[in-house]
Amino acid sequence: MIIWREALSVGVDLIDTEHQELIRKLNDFMEACTKQSGKDKILETLSFLKSYTVEHFSDEESLMQEVEYPDYPVHKQIHDGFVNKVEELERSVLEKGPSVLSTIKLNRLLVDWLINHITKTDVHIGEYIKNREAAS
Ligand SMILES: [Fe+2]
Repeated sequence: MIIWREALSVGVDLIDTEHQELIRKLNDFMEACTKQSGKDKILETLSFLKSYTVEHFSDEESLMQEVEYPDYPVHKQIHDGFVNKVEELERSVLEKGPSVLSTIKLNRLLVDWLINHITKTDVHIGEYIKNREAAS
């Protein structure tokens, strides 16, 4: 279970709220996995992610463009990579049915995204905005 903490804060309310929603979903999914019902929950989680990531990434990307964030192209590429992985996993689950391996893959993807991407990539947007405001 991932608990929201200050280290996960980007410092932009909208983005933090959306990340909290994603963490809630990941926790729901992890809980289902511990109750051996991850396979039942995987398609629902994937379809939530497909629509929610479009909204969330486009909010983050608009913010980056608005503040003329220099690392925008690289960050956008990472987002596109996540979207592709979610779509790929959904396709495979639809074709072959849910499996233990697919639930492990989704868990890994979500943890990588929510922990690594937020703490190593998203937080820099907040830092950039803070420095920009301090300089103006
Ligand atoms: Fe991001």
